[in-house]
Amino acid sequence: MKILVTGGAGFIGSNFVHLLLNEQPDLEVTVIDKLTYAGNKASLDGLPNNRFKFVQGDICDEKLIDQLVAESDVVVHFAAESHNDNSLREPWPFVETNVVGTYRILEAVRAHDKRLHHISTDEVFGDLELDDPAKFNDKTAYNPSSPYSATKAGSDLLVRAWVRSFGVKATISNCSNNYGPYQHIEKFIPRQITNILSGQKPKLYGSGQNIRDWIHVNDHNVAVLKVLESGRIGETYLIGANGEKSNKEVLETILELMGKPKDWFEAVNDRPGHDMRYAIDPSKIERELGWKPGYTDIEQGLKQTIDWYTNHKEWWQPLKDAVEAAYKKKGQ
Ligand code: NAD
Ligand code: DAU
Repeated sequence: MKILVTGGAGFIGSNFVHLLLNEQPDLEVTVIDKLTYAGNKASLDGLPNNRFKFVQGDICDEKLIDQLVAESDVVVHFAAESHNDNSLREPWPFVETNVVGTYRILEAVRAHDKRLHHISTDEVFGDLELDDPAKFNDKTAYNPSSPYSATKAGSDLLVRAWVRSFGVKATISNCSNNYGPYQHIEKFIPRQITNILSGQKPKLYGSGQNIRDWIHVNDHNVAVLKVLESGRIGETYLIGANGEKSNKEVLETILELMGKPKDWFEAVNDRPGHDMRYAIDPSKIERELGWKPGYTDIEQGLKQTIDWYTNHKEWWQPLKDAVEAAYKKKGQ
């Protein structure tokens, strides 16, 4: 079995490739990744050469994608521009990669009749009020807020149309906020951990009351494997670990675990259009595919993540000054 993983040098994709090659001895994996600012080849160090190939390239490149898809049995599509704050500054790369890139993948899997799994996000559903008892499920209407989430919603809708109109064998998963090793330090949790490790105060947007539904990246990827093994074609599976926490709560836990006072942070400018709350109802994937999260204690998961960033300074330190300088320009 040959699997093509798009965006495999990014956060979730690289963790997925490690999981695949460690747990499935018969698989061969090819990663295609453009190596944008968010991709890091070092995240794929140590993989077995005889079963792993890396191709630097763009998913919008029609010829390259057609050739790589033709050579594979299954495509798992992670590649995307993934950061909301960047999409507010410069939306075009999001439209190009997330919409046009997904279109290229769809046309190639259609031409070669290959199985596709499309990775998406809970942000396509918009946000919930803090006191709303509702959670997102696979029937929730799409209502994206940011250019990032709008382009992910567009990519999901393309996948659904290609399933219905052309019989493409695809599934979709929409997951909540991931944390864990190899996450780019522009994102909330690694930004705060690496701030503390660099002697800088963490930065909290607005009031910090916004809620995210945290899941460890390994739990997300195990769920994706379950969908590949036994998901029904054309179905959408929501992945979440009942991990709702306000940003302030998460930050206070990180501060405590790293031996700092709970109020050792700066309140900075809020994100325009900032979604208030995300919450996933994971009952469909639990019931149909027997998936359950392994990380049920976020404090334990955060502790491991803090240890990883503490022990892998060479992976993130070269990026730190530029990331913070870009945030500083926006008062964040
Ligand atoms: P990431 O930004 O860490 O990684 C994205 C990868 O895609 C990078 O390696 C980048 O170089 C590559 N890439 C970007 N444009 C490309 C292009 N045109 N061609 C080829 N490669 C390209 O993102 P992530 O957090 O790992 O997210 C992966 C996927 O999971 C995305 O589709 C995202 O929408 C989705 N997702 C993320 C989360 C989360 O919490 N991070 C949650 C749910 C879903
Ligand atoms: O819900 C899934 C989504 O989760 C994915 O689709 C996205 O790819 C992923 O980036 C993530 O989106 P968020 O915008 O929720 O994640 P981010 O890490 O940027 O921010 C998490 C929360 O923390 C959000 O409410 C904004 C806030 N925040 C973020 C940063 C970077 C801060 O308070 N301070 C910060 O410095």
